[in-house]
Amino acid sequence: MNILITGGLGFIGSHTAVALTEAGYKPIIIDNLNNSDIKVLDKIAEIIAFKPVFYQGDCLDKILMLRIFDEQKIDGVIHFAAYKAVGESVQLPLKYYQNNIQSLCILLEVMQEKGVNNLVFSSSCTVYGQPTSLPVDENAPSLPANSPYGNTKQICEEILRDFSAVNPFKTIALRYFNPIGAHPSSLIGELPLGIPNNLVPFITQTMVKIREKLLVFGDDYPTPDGTCIRDYIHVCDLAEAHVAALFYLQKHENTSLFDTFNIGTGNGNSVLEIIKTLEEIANQKIDYQVVSRRSGDITAVYAATEKASKILHWNAKRTLKQALTDAYNWQKTAPSPKGE
Ligand code: WQD
Repeated sequence: MNILITGGLGFIGSHTAVALTEAGYKPIIIDNLNNSDIKVLDKIAEIIAFKPVFYQGDCLDKILMLRIFDEQKIDGVIHFAAYKAVGESVQLPLKYYQNNIQSLCILLEVMQEKGVNNLVFSSSCTVYGQPTSLPVDENAPSLPANSPYGNTKQICEEILRDFSAVNPFKTIALRYFNPIGAHPSSLIGELPLGIPNNLVPFITQTMVKIREKLLVFGDDYPTPDGTCIRDYIHVCDLAEAHVAALFYLQKHENTSLFDTFNIGTGNGNSVLEIIKTLEEIANQKIDYQVVSRRSGDITAVYAATEKASKILHWNAKRTLKQALTDAYNWQKTAPSPKGE
């Protein structure tokens, strides 16, 4: 089974290419290299012992997308390609709406024209905003998004819902919580462009002296230690969830389907707990300073995981300590950050 992975050289896409191969699928990758590095292709090849078919290009390029479906027998698609920096989306909303929404619409047009009807979509727990109760389950209402980025995820889910309601099309939106970590080989991992927005890569870059000091954005939240709580999930567990979703789509007897699944561990950990765990792993103090809150941050979110467990037969298997150990080991050998 050939699976097209859009954005397949990115953090989650590259780990999913590995997990797909291990499950007997053949990944075909398209990536515009806007926020990824071509060297990742060789690293994936080192792990899976063959080089996946790769197209450098953009999902907005309908001609290219049609050519890929003509040249390759595509059985399903996993759509990662999107801009994902929350802060940047606030400053450049049009860039996010045009790219994230239009690229999905073009992909759906091409899949429809080529008769490919299985799609796994990369969504996010940001669709929930600050849930009124925790753990948050898939029936929780989508609250107004905190950023244009989060809004594009909500809009894309609605597009998929409406499209599959009137077409023989099966699609699953996976609502990621906070992906962290790296492949245990340390050959692939998170490669933020420039200064990391996310907590864990910022901490690991501080640990290897790429960054001077971690700023903790607020310790006055209504949580046990005052810092925000998130559901940090190993990127390899997340990658395996895509394989489970694809398998479910292929086996699903209906011709039309749209469903959403939380992909998290079900556990919540605070910023200070992440710092403390990394200090224990590396036996090293991490220099941090508490500053004011970051606008748009929610206090706490972690996943109700029963639905993915029951329907996709998927659960997160790796511990927080394993994820942070893999993140730190990757950082020690990772290429220096691009784009600064
Ligand atoms: C986690 C916690 C920060 C950096 C975002 C997106 C989400 C997904 C994952 C794309 C928060 C604190 C962070 C730092 C800090 N991205 N923090 N100092 O905001 O939960 O989720 O990234 O799909 O969609 O919303 O993740 O890692 O940025 O922040 O104190 O230098 O760490 O305040 O409490 P977040 P994060």
